[in-house]
Amino acid sequence: MCVKDYARFNSPVLIHEIYCWVQIREGAVPGFGDPGNSAFQAPIFDGLLRYLQKSLTFCVFLETIKDKVMNTRIVELSQSPELAGKAVDFFWKCWGNDKNFAFYEDCIVHSLDKNVPLPKFYLALDQGDRIIGTYALLTNDLISRQDLMPWLACLFVAEEHRNQGIAGRLLEHGLKEAGDKGFEKLYLYTDLVNFYERKGWRHLCNGYNVGMLEVKIYVRETARATTPPPEK
Ligand SMILES: CC(C)(COP(=O)(O)OP(=O)(O)OC[C@H]1O[C@@H](n2cnc3c(N)ncnc32)[C@H](O)[C@@H]1OP(=O)(O)O)[C@@H](O)C(=O)NCCC(=O)NCCS
Repeated sequence: MCVKDYARFNSPVLIHEIYCWVQIREGAVPGFGDPGNSAFQAPIFDGLLRYLQKSLTFCVFLETIKDKVMNTRIVELSQSPELAGKAVDFFWKCWGNDKNFAFYEDCIVHSLDKNVPLPKFYLALDQGDRIIGTYALLTNDLISRQDLMPWLACLFVAEEHRNQGIAGRLLEHGLKEAGDKGFEKLYLYTDLVNFYERKGWRHLCNGYNVGMLEVKIYVRETARATTPPPEK
């Protein structure tokens, strides 16, 4: 990723990080002023970016702040209930059809009780707090396997944000959440080919939904399963 790619984020975090980097390396920052105040000279800063992008050290520095700059925040909906309306809309548009809006609304509204560990719905938000990805933790997602729980479902990343590792982050987040809730394993079902394997999940067996569609069930141990108990 180069300066040009970062520049399209037009991110205050990016500008601040570059400002600090130049300040540390060059001492006083020339010309463009402090990005924290209104005297900031954006055109001069852009010129500096064009100059810096020739520097390998600068490009290495950009790589190290990638996560921070592309800052995607993951929130659990009962902690941010003001987003519930937008979330229902987003989940329904991803997975629903013109007959089942109420189904998604019912599921999500009943996840908003903070005292109930499951179901829970999660949103990936960009810097402008727009929803760019989702997943859910459910007690059951595949009717033929009521014996397994919990399930990770509704993993989705908006098209323009794909292939940036966001689904990977959502999956890791889900595993941590499930572990924190006391579960040693997390399950999901899918028809994707070789996606979850790449993300470290194991194909457990196949199962069926009510329409007798055969799907693949995957499992992964949470951190709770892999962390040894504290020594006495
Ligand atoms: C599948 C999906 C969640 C991936 O999101 P993403 O943020 O682009 O994924 P990541 O950036 O974390 O991972 C990208 C990797 O997954 C691979 N990948 C992406 N979509 C894939 C798919 N449909 N099948 C197989 N592999 C896929 C990419 O090739 C890339 O591989 P690499 O790391 O070896 O280069 C996204 O494409 C999506 O929302 N699809 C529609 C909804 C869906 O199918 N959800 C899964 C339901 S089980």
